[in-house]
Amino acid sequence: MEPTLQVTLAGMTLANPLMLLSGCAGFAEELTRVEGFDFASVGAICLKGTTLNPKEGNPPPRVAETPAGMLNAIGLQNPGARHVVETILPRIQHLPTRFIANIAGSTVDEYAEVARLFDNSPVAAIEINISCPNVKEGGVAFGSDAIMAARVVTAVRQATTKPLITKLSPNVTDIRVIARATIESGTDILSAVNTYMGMAVEWHSGRPILGNVQGGLSGPAIKPAALLQVWRVREVAAPLGIPIIGQGGIASARDAVEFMLVGASAVGVGTALFHKPLIAGEIVAGIREHLVTQGLDCPARLTGTLKT
Ligand SMILES: Cc1cc2nc3c(=O)[nH]c(=O)nc-3n(C[C@H](O)[C@H](O)[C@H](O)COP(=O)(O)O)c2cc1C
Repeated sequence: MEPTLQVTLAGMTLANPLMLLSGCAGFAEELTRVEGFDFASVGAICLKGTTLNPKEGNPPPRVAETPAGMLNAIGLQNPGARHVVETILPRIQHLPTRFIANIAGSTVDEYAEVARLFDNSPVAAIEINISCPNVKEGGVAFGSDAIMAARVVTAVRQATTKPLITKLSPNVTDIRVIARATIESGTDILSAVNTYMGMAVEWHSGRPILGNVQGGLSGPAIKPAALLQVWRVREVAAPLGIPIIGQGGIASARDAVEFMLVGASAVGVGTALFHKPLIAGEIVAGIREHLVTQGLDCPARLTGTLKT
């Protein structure tokens, strides 16, 4: 039996369940310069976090390597939503994959305004980043408070008819509380999880390594913790039919399948792209092979089937 790799999340059909995650694939144009990269090999590409006005980001250094992962504190550097909608999207929209906007703001109104700009664009969905740990205003401040998270999602919901993805922070006491609040406010899909807060210190100089002092930890180092968060999110999302995009340290088909077993309908790869830009094709081929050996006809048959 030849399985299909297609998945449908809240009415949005993707050629396969693998996405490239926000901040790890630029604004997609960068990938046109990567030899051998095939846009048709990925279900979707989440664009870099975008704010209303252009943002320079944090002072360098902005990244640091850690055992089995990395810390980043980019600070949402981006050219502003108008530039992305008017200049970048027309240049990439012909590529054979789907694009998802990733939006951020320092006020509820800014989130809504950015969503309104993307509403009139060819993106397949809008992902609300209420979980960026690297900006002083907005970001995780919204994602760690259920009332604030609900306000952002409600405002964005009124600003667009596109499918809405809310990207959850793992830096909270109980992720289920935030997940539930965002579903009740109009989220169609949940993305779990963003980076874990961390820091790195240079022991000779006695200084922090990152210009921003603290950053977000990603890569294989966070995989077990991220799996648990997806498992918890599923508890509130599955009964309401809300699909989850699982992420956090995925670097192989096996990792991807593990996230599906605990509840993800689709998965994302981020940090692994920095050392292996063509990894998406390998992961998708591995998922396909796994479906064949398990005798399953589509990825949805794996979702939430963990035997406990
Ligand atoms: C350099 C870098 C930049 C990122 N920028 C964003 C961003 O702009 N918006 C966002 O929602 N997540 C951002 N993230 C988080 C990733 O999209 C992803 O959720 C996280 O890194 C976990 O997946 P991974 O372990 O596969 O990287 C960024 C991550 C990295 C490493």
